[in-house]
Order: sequence, then C-alpha cells, then structure tokens
Amino acid sequence: MARTDETKTTKQTACASGAGQTDTAAGLSDPRPAFAALHGHSPEDLFADLPTPCYILDERQLLRNGELLASVSRRTGCKILLAQKAFSNYDFYLLLAPYLAGTEASGLFEARLGAEKMPGREVHVFCAAYRPDQFGELLRFADHIVFNSLHQLRQFGPKAKQAGKSLGLRINPECSTQEGHAIYDPCAPGSRLGVTRCQWDCEITDDLRKLLDGLHFHTLCEQDADALEVTLQAVEKKFGDILPDMKWLNFGGGHHITRPGYHIEKLEQCIRRASRQWGVTVYLEPGEACALNAGFLAARVLDVVRNGSVQTAILDASAACHMPDVIEMPYTPPLFGAQDSQPFTYRLAGPTCLAGDVIGDYSFPRELKPGDLLLFGDMAIYTTCKNNTFNGMPLPDIWRRCADGRLVRLTSFGYADFRERLGSKAESIISCNN
Ligand SMILES: Cc1ncc(COP(=O)(O)O)c(C=O)c1O
Repeated sequence: MARTDETKTTKQTACASGAGQTDTAAGLSDPRPAFAALHGHSPEDLFADLPTPCYILDERQLLRNGELLASVSRRTGCKILLAQKAFSNYDFYLLLAPYLAGTEASGLFEARLGAEKMPGREVHVFCAAYRPDQFGELLRFADHIVFNSLHQLRQFGPKAKQAGKSLGLRINPECSTQEGHAIYDPCAPGSRLGVTRCQWDCEITDDLRKLLDGLHFHTLCEQDADALEVTLQAVEKKFGDILPDMKWLNFGGGHHITRPGYHIEKLEQCIRRASRQWGVTVYLEPGEACALNAGFLAARVLDVVRNGSVQTAILDASAACHMPDVIEMPYTPPLFGAQDSQPFTYRLAGPTCLAGDVIGDYSFPRELKPGDLLLFGDMAIYTTCKNNTFNGMPLPDIWRRCADGRLVRLTSFGYADFRERLGSKAESIISCNN
C-alpha cells in the first residue's frame, strides 16, 4: 500500500536516490514521475514559505489520474471507485467525482464520508467483519455491501436486502501473484480475507445464494495487469460456475493504473472479457492509482549528527508518524534531487525516540545543514489517512496546490488534536458491578 519506483512493482525498490536529477535554468529539477507535478520548479521555488512538516496535495496530478481512470471506464464500461483507505482527503472528492462512479469504504466512517462528500455517487463497503451495533447506521450510507464470510451474509444479508442494498461476497481465488509480501497478500495461506471455494461448498445454501448480486476479489498490490490476468484465470477456475448468476464483479484494488508503463490495454481486455463472459458490470476500486504521485511531504533538517561513518540528518518529519508505510512496508520514498553517486550521503531520520524511525539513506550533491528544505514524493496515498501522534509529534498541516498554483491550507493541527485523542471527555459513567 505504498509507493514504488514507477518502473518496478515491488515495494522495496522505491528510489532512495534520484534517477537523473538535472540542472535547469529555473534551478534543480527532478524528472521522476513522483516530481512531475512540480513542472521543473524546485521545492524552494514553490514551498519555501510553508511551515514544515506539511503535506501538499496536487490538484493537477489528481485530475490527470482521474482523466486516465475515466478513459478506462469510457472504453470498457467498467465503473471505478476511489478506495478511501488510500486517500480520503475529501476536499478533493468533488474534483474527482466526474471521473469516478463513487467511493469504496472499509467501514461505517468511510462509508459516511463517501456518501457525504461525493453526494449522489455509489458507496460500496467491504469490511472483514461488520459490527451489529453499527450495521443499521451503515445501511443509511452504503448502497453496495460486500461480506467477507457466509456467516456474516447470513447474519446481516436479509436486513440489508430488505433495505434495498446490492449485496456481494468477497471470494478468495487462492492465487498469490506477489512474492515475499504476505502482509499484503490476501491469498496467503490461512488468510482471513475472502471465501475460498471449499468454504463456499461447505456453507452455501439456496437462500444465501439468492441474496447475492455480486462477487468481489482483492488480491493485488501495486501490480500490473498481467497479475490481474492470472488472477482472473483463478477466479474463473474456482468460481466461474457462479458468476453467470451475478450482476457485478468487483476486481478490488491494487491496480497501479496511473503508473507510467502500466499495461492499460491488458487491463481493458480483462474487463471486457469478464463483462462478456459472465454478463457482469465490472468494478475496480483502486486507491493508490487515484492519487499516485499527487502529493508531497515537505520537511526541514533540524540537526546533523555523525556516529562513525554514518551521518544522520534529523528532520522535523517522522517516518513512524507521518509516513508509516516506510516502516510497515518497508520502502524508501523518493526524495527530490537525491541521486546515487553524489558525494554526500546521509541517513534521513525522524526526531522521535524510535531508533528505527529512519526514512532511508540518500546522497546529495552538497552537504545538508539545519534549515534545508527536503521534499518527499508520492505522499498523497496511505499518509494523511494513516499518520499518528506517537511521541506527541504534531500532525503536519495539509495544503492544496490548486491548478493555478495557489496554495490553500486545508487543515492544520495543534496540541489539542494530540491531547483530545488521549482522553478526558469523562462525561458518562458506566456502572460496573464488581
Ligand atoms: C478491499 C480493498 N479494496 C481496495 C484497496 C485499495 O488498494 P490500492 O490502494 O492498492 O489500490 C484495498 C487495499 O488494501 C483493499 O483492501
């Protein structure tokens, strides 16, 4: 769920070093797709006045992604949803709405956000297990509800059907297409995600089957269409006899459609084949592809320390707090202007107590010093929706870079945001008998 070098599909390979930084009359530029939205300007040109750390979300790049996704829908008839788990900066939902069929949610809050902020569009939800105390409210916001087990379909399906919802079941085609990445592989052995054919055969009844309008699978992560093609063959082998009874088939997320070099034609072949063969409407629910390369995290150097041969620049941004996928994936995010074979190499790290709060090792043409501005690329996805205040770290402000170049602050955070997540709204007392 985080970024890669645009030419590769594994998360570990993201570019610690630049792929060809060049000097231009306007100053330094970095030709990598993560920095395309800068259009040849340097971070200092554009963002020197912003308090750091901060995220900057780029309207033009989001529009570009939206247009590309919409062209796939136009040519194939598929419907594309924004997976909000990757990008839920709702100030941009109306901008994206013309290109999308709606939003995809992981539960009640995201479903509500999608319904409220992209009004009139479809709201799909998949959750590994719905809560009885929330399900009634969820029905107010979601129109497509995907269950993860036949037990949950039995528990909630009749009520949802009565409420006029379109119901789906997540299937597990048991086809891993990513190696060495069990944490992001819903088809890994023992996975809790999706119903296998064996589970289906053991538990399905006519009544349950009648409740279903669609099937859903999500098995990919930052992958190209060849992995989708292989997955579809597995879906056909395992569930091909059930699909003709369905109205829709959701291919999930993980399609890196907006990455340069992605095989769009093959994706479109897969969509057309599925639609024709089973008479279904195909849905895609990418998160990353919607906001790929559409954001930056700007940070400044606070201090530089040396221990033996390692020089570490300590930044005002933290991997653990502000780009947690760097540690979770792990991956090394692209940094503007850093380039292999430059003479000055630094480990960039956060100011928290965590020894492993390290962003990566990067090389520069000159020495770093306190106050230097650094710009990390591809920071719109799995960042603003995933950050935290560990160590009392302030959350970075979020800025919108408008198509005309204006910078608008969308939100800012302070001490109260840190404090209020931790307690002291002790208003109601629940009695306890012991
Ligand atoms: C069910 C489901 N749909 C969609 C997505 C979005 O995936 P991505 O952001 O990789 O496109 C995910 C990501 O984990 C997911 O679990």
